Amino acid sequence: MAIRSALIGLGGIAWKYDAAKDLPYPLTQAGALLAQEGVDLLAGCSPEAADRDGFQRWCGLSVFDSHAKLLRACSPQLVGICSPTEFHYEHFRACIEAGVAMFWLEKPPAASIADTMEMAELARHHGVTVCVNYFRRFLPVYRRLKETIAGGLGKCHTISVMYSPGLLRNGCHLVDLLFYLTDAPDYELLWVDGADPKSPSFGIRLAGGPTAHVCGASLPYHSNTISAVCDEGIISVLYGGRATRFEKRIPNPDFPGFFTLEDHGGNPLGKAGIDDYMSHSLADLLFAHQQGRQPLSNLETALVSQRLMDQVLQAVTPCA
Ligand SMILES: NC(=O)c1ccc[n+]([C@@H]2O[C@H](COP(=O)([O-])OP(=O)(O)OC[C@H]3O[C@@H](n4cnc5c(N)ncnc54)[C@H](O)[C@@H]3O)[C@@H](O)[C@H]2O)c1
Repeated sequence: MAIRSALIGLGGIAWKYDAAKDLPYPLTQAGALLAQEGVDLLAGCSPEAADRDGFQRWCGLSVFDSHAKLLRACSPQLVGICSPTEFHYEHFRACIEAGVAMFWLEKPPAASIADTMEMAELARHHGVTVCVNYFRRFLPVYRRLKETIAGGLGKCHTISVMYSPGLLRNGCHLVDLLFYLTDAPDYELLWVDGADPKSPSFGIRLAGGPTAHVCGASLPYHSNTISAVCDEGIISVLYGGRATRFEKRIPNPDFPGFFTLEDHGGNPLGKAGIDDYMSHSLADLLFAHQQGRQPLSNLETALVSQRLMDQVLQAVTPCA
């Protein structure tokens, strides 16, 4: 019997990116669910008529104007929560009460650490499987970066991040990666600069690991760069996973006895790319559920990054 699935929220990540482009792999939850063997996508809901009509024209499935009606009519086993972040908690809770067992929860999991902690508690209590869609955890290029940070280029002294736009909107992917790449269970917040309060910059010391410098800016493009500064050079994953760069330590040709860096043609991280990023994430949700474990990206792993983002945003928000 196929798994019954449905979507809450019918915007960009739910289906629209796939309607706007024709790629060999899905860019959205609907695209991935429709392509996934053993899963039936039954319906979606949104309070916006234009989104419902567009979704129905695109894939012909049923639509509802509220999550309550969708849950009642379809009794889904798997729900993709693609609503705006501030509604994730309410929708997650309603799905738990309706008996949903599997969640593909868009990132960030919630708008605050308090909501995320309650969701993690609900997930534990009800034994449900939750994949938070920090999909970069599933991409080979970041897995290889993790191995490199663990010792492939000598000691990793610091990690540098450049993100835009918005800490909760896009920066959250990179903040999550800091904890994935280093396995740090915790952090110490060293400094915060809130000149750009939606995209603040900050520094942390990762528990048992290197420092990390996170630079945010409200740029008119997405910036997703992460670099590990190691003894043997600097290794970077650029453009959200689409490219890599290795600057290798070499003897300085002008100053004998000193070393400098040089762009190295070879690439220790291998082929970059974000192909099939949604399918990787969905496959782990399904496989984890079958195996009775949590996916690689789940509510427990998301707690630490959510706590850090809360702390940073509170530090830059003027008191009322
Ligand atoms: N994993 C990723 O890389 C990625 C990419 C984009 C967005 N996201 C996340 O996905 C979520 C949605 O983002 P988006 O860009 O698709 O937004 P969007 O604005 O394009 O779509 C949001 C949808 O939710 C619907 N909605 C609003 N209120 C609702 C409610 N109360 N109940 C049900 N539906 C409601 C809207 O009508 C719309 O259809 C956000 O949490 C965002 O951070 C994740």
